[in-house]
Amino acid sequence: MSLRNVLAIPSSAVTDETVYRGRRRLLGALATSTLLPLAGCADAEVPPSKTVVTPEQAKSGFRTDEALTRLEDVTGYNNFYEFGTDKADPARAKKTLRTSPWNIAVSGECAKPGNLSFEDLLKGLAPEERIYRLRCVEGWSMVIPWLGVPLADVLRRFEPTSKAKYVAFTTLADPAQMPGLRFRSIDWPYREGLRIDEAMHPLAFLATGLYGKPLPQQNGAPLRLVVPWKYGFKSIKSIVEIRFTEKQPKTAWHQLQPKEYGFYSNVNPEVDHPRWSQKTERRIAGTGNRLFADRIPTQKFNGYGEQVAGLYAGMDLEKWY
Ligand code: MTE
Repeated sequence: MSLRNVLAIPSSAVTDETVYRGRRRLLGALATSTLLPLAGCADAEVPPSKTVVTPEQAKSGFRTDEALTRLEDVTGYNNFYEFGTDKADPARAKKTLRTSPWNIAVSGECAKPGNLSFEDLLKGLAPEERIYRLRCVEGWSMVIPWLGVPLADVLRRFEPTSKAKYVAFTTLADPAQMPGLRFRSIDWPYREGLRIDEAMHPLAFLATGLYGKPLPQQNGAPLRLVVPWKYGFKSIKSIVEIRFTEKQPKTAWHQLQPKEYGFYSNVNPEVDHPRWSQKTERRIAGTGNRLFADRIPTQKFNGYGEQVAGLYAGMDLEKWY
């Protein structure tokens, strides 16, 4: 799907009318290279409607018609340890993250390294909507309508060299903005990484918004990775550094518990976490006071095998977990 086509999708083809209006505002805001103030986007939440998915979108994996997780749950049940380890902590935390100005340093094995503002990093790229499943290694999952741009479109701007075998990402680590940093739960800053071919895959996404609005602090404002076929911890939030490397980079959870969290961390029901089964998951698609829907089977590569299995041809996924 070309970026131009995305802008041309009819309103009947996006999540719902209210979301679409919010999305249009965000598209406009990004096109003029300004970050929308969060206070300016107070659209009321509407119940998720059935998403229209074309056969092409289904084939690409860019959209799913599964029930969306409610906005209140997407933004209220989070993992963002920089703001605390309880699921409610990131949403409850004071809004201390200063997302504008926001700079991203790009370095390493590339012809055009640089230190760019958020706006310059995304300049000229039209935001798209992607509706992805997110499967956390802990055994819960969501369906989230993201806004953002393909990661490959951003990375290409820096002209990675043939030595760029991996891409490393780093989250901001500022104790003045992130109260959770005083706990050494993780060896801060939070780091993640992908092999370059994974990073260049059309499903790998840099999100700047969700549900038609800019990302809130708790979801990793102003930009975070979304890698839908991998466990959620690979989808690093509030990115300030991108580095092209020849060697596999260090990643936060792998450093902490290498036996439990691998570098690849592809969703895989056939390989259990040492302390729990990965065969099923609890979908967060509740209604009323119910957070979790019934347990469902976990799909290999989180259901994106048709698109990504080829990246791992010949690899023993039990060894390279
Ligand atoms: N990124 C940072 N910087 N810090 C974190 O604690 N948690 C990860 C990932 N990215 C995390 C992070 C985990 S474990 C998951 S499941 C997802 O973010 C959750 O994203 P969400 O809160 O937007 O659903």
